[in-house]
Amino acid sequence: MLDLKTYLTLKQNQVDARLTELLAVNPESDKLSTAMHYSLMAGGKRLRPILCLAAAESVGRINNDTLNAACALEMIHTYSLIHDDLPAMDNDNLRRGKPTCHIAFDEATAILTGDALLTLAFEILLSEQGSLSPEEAHNKLTITHAIAVAAGARGMISGQMMDIDSENIELSEADLKKIHLSKTGALIKASLYTGGVLGGGSPEEVQALKIYGKHIGLAFQVADDILNVEGDPLVMGKAIGTDQALNKSTYPSVMGVDRSKAYAKTLIKNALDGLAIFDGRADPLRAIAGYIIERNQ
Ligand code: IPE
Ligand code: IPE
Ligand code: MG
Ligand code: MG
Repeated sequence: MLDLKTYLTLKQNQVDARLTELLAVNPESDKLSTAMHYSLMAGGKRLRPILCLAAAESVGRINNDTLNAACALEMIHTYSLIHDDLPAMDNDNLRRGKPTCHIAFDEATAILTGDALLTLAFEILLSEQGSLSPEEAHNKLTITHAIAVAAGARGMISGQMMDIDSENIELSEADLKKIHLSKTGALIKASLYTGGVLGGGSPEEVQALKIYGKHIGLAFQVADDILNVEGDPLVMGKAIGTDQALNKSTYPSVMGVDRSKAYAKTLIKNALDGLAIFDGRADPLRAIAGYIIERNQ
C-alpha cells in the first residue's frame, strides 16, 4: 500500500536536490542569483514536478531528462508566483511562508528574477541535445513546445490576464472555469504530458494522462480558492481572504463553499476515471488526486 506522505517527501527531496544543482551552474552570488535561489528554494510543495515524475513512472521510468524537465516546470511555476505576487498583480507580501520576492528584494529584482527563472527553464529543457537518439531529441522538442504553449498566451498567461481583468466583475461559472483551466490547469496538464512523453508512454497513455491532468488542474485551483476562504495562513505560508479583498470571482464566490467542494470532488472522480487504463504504477497519481482537494496547504 502506497504511503503518499513518504512518496511526496521522497520526490520533493529528489527535485530539491536537482534544483540546487541546476542553480549552481550560475555560481555568482550576485543579487539575481540570490533572489532566484530565495524564491525557488523557499519550500513549495513541488506538485508540478512530482506529477511529471509520477506520470513517467506510470508508463515507464524516470530518466535524467525527466528530472530536469520536472525542475524546469517548477522554475516556470515559481516565476509565475513571483510575478503573481507583485503589487501590480495580487500584491501579496507572503509566499511559501516567507516575504515575497519583491518584499525581500525589490520590485525590479522580482520582475527580473521571474524572467530569469522562466528563461532558465527553457535553457534546461533544451540542454544536452548532443547525446540524444533521434527519438529522444524529438520527444524533447515535443514537450518543450507543449510547455511553451501551456505557459504562454494560450495558457497560463492568458489565464492570468483574464484573472486580473475580471477583478470587480461577477463572472459566470463558464468564464471562471476558462480562467482556472488556463491560469493553473494548463501547466499542471503539461506536467503530466511531459512525464508521459519522456517516460515513453503510448499515444493512448499520454492522452489518458492529459485527461487526468485537465481535471486535477481545475480541481487544484478550486481547492486554492476554497483555502483562500477557510485555510490556515500559518500552514499555507500565504495570506487568506485576499481574493475577496481584491473582489475576485472565485469558485466559493460564484457557487458557494459547499458546492465548490462537491464540484472539486466530481472533478477528482473524473480524473481517476481517466487513469482506468493504468496498472498499479499509477497509484501515486491516484493518491495525489485525492490529496489535491484534501490538502490544507
Ligand atoms: C499556488 O500553487 C498557485 C496556484 C497556481 C494555485 P501551489 O499551491 O502549487 O504553490 P507552492 O508551489 O506549493 O508554493
Ligand atoms: C496563481 O493563482 C496562478 C499563477 C501564479 C499562474 P492565484 O493568484 O489564485 O494563487 P495564489 O493564491 O496567489 O497562490
Ligand atoms: Mg493571482
Ligand atoms: Mg495570487
